[in-house]
Amino acid sequence: MALFEIRSLRKQFNDHQVLKGVDLDVMEGEVKVVMGPSGCGKSTLLRCLNRLVEPCAGSIRFRGEEVTGSGVNVRALRQQIGFLFQQFALYRHLTVLDNTTLALRKLKGMKKQDAAERALHELDRLDMAGHAHKHPAHLSGGQKQRVALARALAMDPAVILLDEPTSALDPVMAREVAQLIRKLHSERVTMLCVTHDVEFASAIAERVTFLNQGLVQAEERLCVLQNNHEHPAIREFFMTEKRTP
Ligand SMILES: Nc1ncnc2c1ncn2[C@@H]1O[C@H](COP(=O)(O)OP(=O)(O)O)[C@@H](O)[C@H]1O
Ligand SMILES: [Mg+2]
Repeated sequence: MALFEIRSLRKQFNDHQVLKGVDLDVMEGEVKVVMGPSGCGKSTLLRCLNRLVEPCAGSIRFRGEEVTGSGVNVRALRQQIGFLFQQFALYRHLTVLDNTTLALRKLKGMKKQDAAERALHELDRLDMAGHAHKHPAHLSGGQKQRVALARALAMDPAVILLDEPTSALDPVMAREVAQLIRKLHSERVTMLCVTHDVEFASAIAERVTFLNQGLVQAEERLCVLQNNHEHPAIREFFMTEKRTP
């Protein structure tokens, strides 16, 4: 069953058309990867899904229910959609545990003890329980991303949106995050991940959706996209990637 059905999605900022009619499905249990050149609208697309950005036209159905327009309970929607950012977005003054319990307490109204139990369970799942009392400054980038993932998972979301989750990480840590995503995929966690990191993309999915100039240009196996593709923008994207050290 489709978790998200995105149809003819359009977004413009002033007179700049960013999304020009995007059609995309995300199925339950799937890891969907979206790639595309910088500025093509990847982050905007993700941000439309939990209404951080208001689309101008088109439709987004989440579990069959329209999420655009008025009358939607945006708070309830956001509780079902986890979000992982490039820069981790952890609170520096809070410990790992407090970062992970914050939303459980504030949004779900859980008691301190229950929230801590839930958070520790997720931290343990991602091998971070031993770091629960540290502050983010004392963690590596990969560890911070794991905490951010544990925090998202603790809310028991229907899907996790990941926006360039490895772009602040070195290749070794990026591989660690890829491993985690594979593990979560095997546990049927649904994820929609935007990345320009080809190695990372190939580690987490076989097929890739290529977004270009606000439209889905292709949905194909990564190896097909990489191999001298007929579309110039796709060719150029993967050529540039190869040159990047
Ligand atoms: N809040 C905003 N106001 C105005 N322009 C924006 C805003 N957010 C994004 N844009 C513009 O929309 C385009 C797509 O941005 P984005 O979705 O961040 O691209 P990507 O994530 O693919 O690099 C860019 O040209 C960006 O400058
Ligand atoms: Mg972006």
